[in-house]
Amino acid sequence: MIDRKEIIDITKDYDTENINVGSVASHSALDIFDGAVEEGFRTLAICQYGREKTYSHYFRAQRESNGKLCRGVVDDSICFDHFREITASQNQQKLISENTLFIPNRSFTSYCGIEDIENDFRVPLVGSRNMLRSEERGIDRDYYWLLEKANLPYPERIENPEDIDTLVMVKLPHATKKLERGFFTAGTYREYMEKAESLLKQGTITRDDLDNARIEEYIIGPVFNFDMFYSPIEENMSKLEILGVDWRFETSLDGHVRLPAPQQMNLSEKQLTPEYTVCGHNTATLRESLLEEVFNLSEKYVKASQKHYKPGIIGPFCLQTCVDKDLNFYIYDVAPRVGGGTNVHMSVGHPYGNTLWRKPMSTGRRLAFEIRRAIEMDKLDQIVT
Ligand SMILES: Nc1ncnc2c1ncn2[C@@H]1O[C@H](COP(=O)(O)OP(=O)(O)O)[C@@H](O)[C@H]1O
Ligand SMILES: [Mg+2]
Repeated sequence: MIDRKEIIDITKDYDTENINVGSVASHSALDIFDGAVEEGFRTLAICQYGREKTYSHYFRAQRESNGKLCRGVVDDSICFDHFREITASQNQQKLISENTLFIPNRSFTSYCGIEDIENDFRVPLVGSRNMLRSEERGIDRDYYWLLEKANLPYPERIENPEDIDTLVMVKLPHATKKLERGFFTAGTYREYMEKAESLLKQGTITRDDLDNARIEEYIIGPVFNFDMFYSPIEENMSKLEILGVDWRFETSLDGHVRLPAPQQMNLSEKQLTPEYTVCGHNTATLRESLLEEVFNLSEKYVKASQKHYKPGIIGPFCLQTCVDKDLNFYIYDVAPRVGGGTNVHMSVGHPYGNTLWRKPMSTGRRLAFEIRRAIEMDKLDQIVT
């Protein structure tokens, strides 16, 4: 892990009048850029050929000669054959020389390699560098480990498929769709075996991944992803905020639930098991009496992160939860960075963020606002790693 002091020293040399906000151009980057320009920063998109035009063309920024923004959100873009080229030392140097504060999103960690990010990528990250790894399910000290340490509720793990006696979710990667899921559900060991064999036969999953899959209790209830924010530099008010809530559109699951039951029963083997590929998001609010519990859960998560992953969570994080029939929350995933669904409140803000800040407050804007405040308070060192 790069010594935090080294990053702070790099940040100290930055010209804070000319900060660039950079991010890998995918996932939640539009929200990040939108927030950054709103708070008066210039933005830099790290693009990959073939998927760059959203940023380099369609949402490109146009400014007047005095710098006032009249259109778009992306000031500059750099395009590579592959995202991970940004970690090459001359490219890092370019970012640093342009006073770039880098916002880690899931595409950054997925495409640029966690080892390189931890050990070689010397561009200051706004967020917790050492926590990014915790979302790799199955590794040492992953997010389940942290949830356990924090005494937070998560779906019970079933070690042995033979012990399945309630509906479970089997979590493993998709065999061919890179970075996607080969998840399936089962109510009994027999169903587990049947589905596993069928998916193996179709090449959707591999035997190796199946052997290492996490089997956990399936929580029957709605999904709420809580887009939270923790500000280490806040002095007088709560350091913890809820900005928004989102939930996902998943294919092919959402198509399945729109079919009548007899039609579902008659699907061919190839279509029978839904997949869980995220392809969009929607926004939600929570029954008000449940909000307090979300704060409790989040406070505990923050505290545990500070104890076990010093300095702990910085900025945005996302608790992905299901709620059961007795209104208990179960956290099935944690993103220790900007969530994947924050485009739901891009630019317009979210009821919770707006209510707190009295103006449109998306996750992207909150991040940029944190940078702005840190600069004004001379506390940039407290939000970078
Ligand atoms: N224990 C669970 N019970 C019910 N649904 C779950 C459970 N775990 C995950 N899910 C569903 O599966 C989806 C993906 O799960 P997640 O753990 O976030 O995987 P990934 O991080 O690979 O996206 C979620 O959006 C949710 O709908
Ligand atoms: Mg997830």
